[in-house]
Amino acid sequence: DKAQQDAMKKEAGIEAAKLITDGMIAGLGTGSTVRFLVDELGRRVQEEGLDFTGVTTSRRTQEQAEGYGIKIVNIDDVDHIDLTIDGADEVDANFNGIKGGGAALLWEKIVAVNSNKIVWIVDESKVVDVIGKFPLPVEVIPFGWSHVFKRLDERGYKPVLRLDAEGKPVRTDENNYVIDLHLERIDDPQALAEDLINIVGVVEHGLFLNMVNEVIVGSPDGPRVLTN
Ligand code: A5P
Repeated sequence: DKAQQDAMKKEAGIEAAKLITDGMIAGLGTGSTVRFLVDELGRRVQEEGLDFTGVTTSRRTQEQAEGYGIKIVNIDDVDHIDLTIDGADEVDANFNGIKGGGAALLWEKIVAVNSNKIVWIVDESKVVDVIGKFPLPVEVIPFGWSHVFKRLDERGYKPVLRLDAEGKPVRTDENNYVIDLHLERIDDPQALAEDLINIVGVVEHGLFLNMVNEVIVGSPDGPRVLTN
């Protein structure tokens, strides 16, 4: 149930917070699991005087972190990122993952590719044999979005435009739309990634292929660490 899942997320978040040490430049991801990470980092900043610099992957995470007095800088004001900790929606044994359930995939991917090390924090329900049951988010430019949608539909990708509670298209931090692909299973993630990124109007997609170095999995028996 939800309470147990939250407990596993929290456990993974607290475990990952130990990886952040004084002087580091750390990328901070987005989502409900990362919220627990940032809570713990905030506690350490306030109670233990932890002194690190954060780069955030969404406005939400930035607001939460700054609320704790964590020093956040713009990604373009740092020359490197030591370590990024982020959540994920699904991850398989080859460390191929889906992200973007929270619509933050674009900034997440930009932070990820500029990080020396990447760690994901997940509860055990997200570790899967084959990715794709979770709908794959694709960020698209609003101008001409319906034509991108049609192309995705013609390819059999089962696209659905993501809407908010009022029925309006969800907007990302870059003001783009998100189209979710209901694929059920993705047998060749590399080929799909190449196909998607070559559609004009697609900004990014939520396939994060072999980017992550370590996955911390929260489970009822305590955190497990998977390494690549
Ligand atoms: C945000 O866009 C996502 O990539 C999140 O990292 C992912 O959806 C995991 O979120 P939860 O920790 O809330 O499941």
